[in-house]
Order: sequence, then C-alpha cells, then structure tokens
Amino acid sequence: GYNAVADKKLAAKYKAQLAHLKFAGNTPSLNAAREELLTGLEGTLALRPQIGDKIEYPALLVGIASSLKLPGSVCSESELDKTGNEGYLIKTVIINQKKCIVITAKTDIGVLHGVFGFLKLLQTQQSIDALNILEYPRIMYRVLDHWDNLNRTVERGYAGASIWNWHKLPGYIDQRYIDYARASASVGINGSVVNNVNANALMLTPEYLEKVKALANTFRPYGIKVYLSVKFSSPIDIGGLKTADPLNAQVMQWWKDKADEIYRSIPDFGGFLVKANSEGQPGPQAYGRSHADGANMLADALLPHNGIVMWRAFVYDNNVPDDRAKQAYNEFKPLDGQFKKNVIIQVKNGPIDFQPREPFHPLFGAMPNTPLMMEFQLTQEYLGFSTNLVYEAPLFKESLESDTYAMGKGSTVSKVIQGAFNPKLITGMAGVANIGTDINWCGHPFAQANWYAFGRLAWNPDLSSGDIASDWLKMTFSNNPGFISPMKAMMLQSRETAVNYMTPLGLHHIMGVNTHYGPGPWVDNAGRADWNAVYYHKADSAGIGFNRSSTGSNAVAQYQPQVRDLFENLATCPDEYLLWFHHVGWDYKMRSGATLWDEMVHRYYLGADAVKQMELSWGKMAGYVDEERFGSVKQLLAIQYDEATTWRNSCVLYFQTFSKRPIPAQYPKPDKP
Ligand code: GCU
Repeated sequence: GYNAVADKKLAAKYKAQLAHLKFAGNTPSLNAAREELLTGLEGTLALRPQIGDKIEYPALLVGIASSLKLPGSVCSESELDKTGNEGYLIKTVIINQKKCIVITAKTDIGVLHGVFGFLKLLQTQQSIDALNILEYPRIMYRVLDHWDNLNRTVERGYAGASIWNWHKLPGYIDQRYIDYARASASVGINGSVVNNVNANALMLTPEYLEKVKALANTFRPYGIKVYLSVKFSSPIDIGGLKTADPLNAQVMQWWKDKADEIYRSIPDFGGFLVKANSEGQPGPQAYGRSHADGANMLADALLPHNGIVMWRAFVYDNNVPDDRAKQAYNEFKPLDGQFKKNVIIQVKNGPIDFQPREPFHPLFGAMPNTPLMMEFQLTQEYLGFSTNLVYEAPLFKESLESDTYAMGKGSTVSKVIQGAFNPKLITGMAGVANIGTDINWCGHPFAQANWYAFGRLAWNPDLSSGDIASDWLKMTFSNNPGFISPMKAMMLQSRETAVNYMTPLGLHHIMGVNTHYGPGPWVDNAGRADWNAVYYHKADSAGIGFNRSSTGSNAVAQYQPQVRDLFENLATCPDEYLLWFHHVGWDYKMRSGATLWDEMVHRYYLGADAVKQMELSWGKMAGYVDEERFGSVKQLLAIQYDEATTWRNSCVLYFQTFSKRPIPAQYPKPDKP
C-alpha cells in the first residue's frame, strides 16, 4: 500500500501538477505500470487523474519514448541509450507552454521502474518541480534466492512458511505472488530463484515445472524472471540414468532436453542456481571432474536459450584439513577463465558464512576472467533471526567498499562485481530472501528494510546506507524529521551493535549449534570440527582468536599483498578483524589503550547497552507510528535486549574461564549466563 502524503500543502501542489495523465501503450508490463501509478496516486494523494490522449496540460506523460512521440528536444537518443533495457528517465519538460512531467524509457520494464521511481519521489516528499532523473541498473542479474522447500518449510527462514503454495499451484495464483513481484520490482529486483539451494530433484519434474510456469507468468509483467536451484544428481534422481558425470554424453543430453522442455513453457526462464560438492550436496567432484566441468555442462544446455548458471563457491569440507576459510579460493581460483560465458560464480560476501562481520571474500578480485556475483544473506541466520532489529545495509556496504587492490588501489569489491575491470563479463548480485507468509512479510517490521536495501544496492551499489534507510523509513512509516532522524541513526547503528553483543573484534561462528541462534561459544561436539565454535575462537589460557597470519593458516596470503600485509601485521590489522586473523594474548594492548580482555568485555557491554538505547529511542516514537507496528517493534526490542544480555553474559563468563581476568569494576556483574 501507499501512505498518504501527510504535508497538505505539498499534496495540493503535487495534485495540481498531476491532474492529467497520458499513458501510452497497453502491454502486460505497461498495464502493470499504469495500475501501479493509479494505485500510487490514489494512495499518496487520493488523486484520480483525468486520463486520455487529448488531455489538458500540464500533464504527466508516461510510456515508451517512441510511443509517446516526444519531440527530440524532450529526450535525446543518447540519454535513452544510457537507460538500457531496464532504466528510465523522469524529466520536467515544457509542452504547449506548460510544464509537464515525462516518465519514459526504451522498454516496458523501464517504464514500470520509472513509475516506481516517480512514486518514490512522492512518498519521500521530494520536489517534482524540475526533475531530471536518469536511472539504470549497474548490475545485470539482481536476484532473490529463496531457500524454500517443496513442503513449504524455509531453510533459515524466520518469517513463517514459504509463500509458494505448491499444492494450490498452478491453478491458484495467490495475490501474494503479485504483491511479491510488485515489491521486488519496485526496488529493481529482476530475478527469483524460487527453491532452496539444497535442492529437491522433483523440482524439475513436469508436475512441478507446470507450477513454476504459473509463477513465471505472474512475475513476467514485473520484469522478474524465474530461476531454479537444481540438484546435480537430477539425471539419476528423476532421469533414470546411472550417473550424473558432467562429461557423460547421456547426462549432457539429459540436461539439454530438460532445458529445452523448460523453455518450451517458460520462454524467458532465467537459468539454474547450483550448490555442488558442499555440505553433502552432489557435484562433479564425485566423478573426478571440476566445478568448471559441472557448470559448463549446464551452461551448454542453457546457452541456446540465453539462460545462465549461477554456480556457488560456498564449498567447504571437514575432510579437507586446511582452514575452512581458505577452501573456496583454493578450489576456484585455479579455474579462472575456464567457465563458459553464461556461468557466473556466486560468492558469499565473506569466506566463512554470513557472519555478523567477515572480511571480504578473497575470491573477489582473484578471478579477473570469470564473472563473480555477490551473495548476501537477507534472512538473519546469524543475526538473531527475526527478533533482532539489524539493518544490514552497512554490512553489505562494508564488503562492497572493501578494496581488493586487484587492479591497484581503488579496486573495490563493488567495482569487481560491476564488471568494471572486464566489461565482457556478466554481472550479478543475489540476496538470500527473508520473505515468508507472516503478515509483515519478513517477521520483523524492520526486516523489510533488508529486502529493500538489497534491491537498491543491487541496482546501484554506490548508494549509501543512510540514504536507503531514510527512503525506507519515509515510505514505510513517516516523513516527519522527528521520526526519521532518530530512527535512521538507530538503523545505522544496529548492525555494529549486533556485532558488539555477538561477535566483537573479529570473533565468528560462536552461535548456538545447528540453529545458529543465541550464544554457543562452548560448542565442541557439533559432529564436525568445522561446525564447532571452539574451532573458530580457539580461546586458551594464553589468549583468543584464529591465527590466519603467515605463522598460522596463512589465509592472509589469499589476498593481494597490500591487503595481506594490512591483515598480517598486528600493528595494522583493524580491530574489527583482529581475532579473525590473529590469536592474541589476553593482555595485548589495544588501540584504545585497554587490554584485549577489557576491550572485549567493553564491547559486549556496549552492544547490550545499545539495545537498551534502541528500546528507549523507539519508545518515543509512539506519536509517529500506528499502534500495531509500534507495539510489535516494542515487544521485539524487549526480546532483543534480553537476547543481547544473554549473549553478553554467556560470552563474557565463558571466555573468562580462559582469561582468568576480572570483569572491570565499572560493569555490572553478569547475573545469568
Ligand atoms: C549455511 C546455512 C545452510 C545453507 C548453507 C548454504 O551453512 O546454515 O542452511 O544451506 O549456508 O549457503 O548453502
């Protein structure tokens, strides 16, 4: 829905400018755009514009540039070219001596995005007096990865069940599918992988493909393509073959036929996402073949149809004795340049697994001849599920802005994934969805901000966390500065706060075993060494932290020399990554002047105290927010404070059994673990 523009004077001004609408064209996407525009004008301004071809001016003119028949002076070919296939122009122009607003693009989808862009201007109460906006996405494939199972459970999902009702599909199209597409398209998302990376081979059976087709038909007007996660052993599981060896002729043929079958019913099908040889999933290595062999075989099947393969680099194996953080790089770096052009390697932002903080993944910048796409996690697997308010844009930005030095200073991860160093490569960004059947979609009213921020950053990774937060707050709650200013500050601080009460100073993977919820630094019997918390923090009487320097696992060597040296040397290693890269003595003098032990205790207390501040800050917002959402966030923050103190107490008391040092006197004693 759309909130009404609360500023009455401004609303009147908008209305005067938007009273007449000319909307050219009536394809499915343009119809969706028209309907969205009318819904938006009604919701924000209670405005039903006069619509027609012969209209009065000033007017709002919307449509593909060629069909609007705009004079060349209104928008040039070169401007339009810049908008590409998905971008748009919003301009104030003079027609019949009257100031008009034009929303135009080269394609239907561009117009749809333009309409959303325009509605955002109204929702965020911007002036529309002199518009000159040119927007286009910096990244080609901007996809949500749903870890949704066919039985409607969602792996690592904390917002109810899967929104895909496989039982009722294909006959029943839930309004939720349409609203999902609208919301996603409104932030520029153009792809949806509808099933879990831990894939079920049944997904590729004709019965399920019929259902997938119905979803694809629903999403198509919104510019969103459907993709499927596929199980590498599908030729055996559902194809009756004896092998899934990617170099076997029958296997290759099976995948070709399957791709042809899919494209017969979904002509714009996006492609496959594959988790192979990771956490027990089948893959080419079982046949002595490489990731490239596996990915290329699938790529060949999809290439005639313009489909792509998103092949994941999230691989680790407890039978490989080396540091888990090194494995993806070790397996993939040697394959640089060996992948077909429609393969993109999907790399998590950090080398372990979506921790509250990780250094950037060393593969970024290390495979100059291979497309690499970013994989972020929107669902808060390691960030307190949907009871913790954690705005993730600062986490995303931190990794996007990390300098890989791959092509010299300034070779940020953001540039790498935008293909700045090799324009021939396809580009992409994936977000593991946090969407479910909860009425508020994401489990926590503020968790929607992560879906929103992902879309905005996939469209333009250079946007700032703060601007995205204020846009989201304005469109979701209120434009009132009395609300925006404290709430924006709260959102921007929330991720650092979670790091402080969960994993300060580079600690990682010390969450509860299996659930990844709540503290579990003591876990040492998870069944696999690399699932044990003690593997990661390595606390002992001397100190704490994982030595990944040259005297330890030497994971630092996977980075360019400038980055390697930065992390290698204690003197330069940022505090944020200290215990990620070093085993440090309890009495080590930190930059703050405190000892490591005291600093760690300080961070845990700082984190929990900051959640108390969030509670107090939200408590003052009752006047700006409806009762329901006010009460909901209030309750969640109270839970979060309880969880934050549990984290703090548990970690401080547990690590104290090694440090044997007192908790500095200024802090209240942890009362309960
Ligand atoms: C994490 C997560 C798993 C998921 C995996 C993946 O390990 O806990 O549930 O399957 O990531 O990204 O493949």
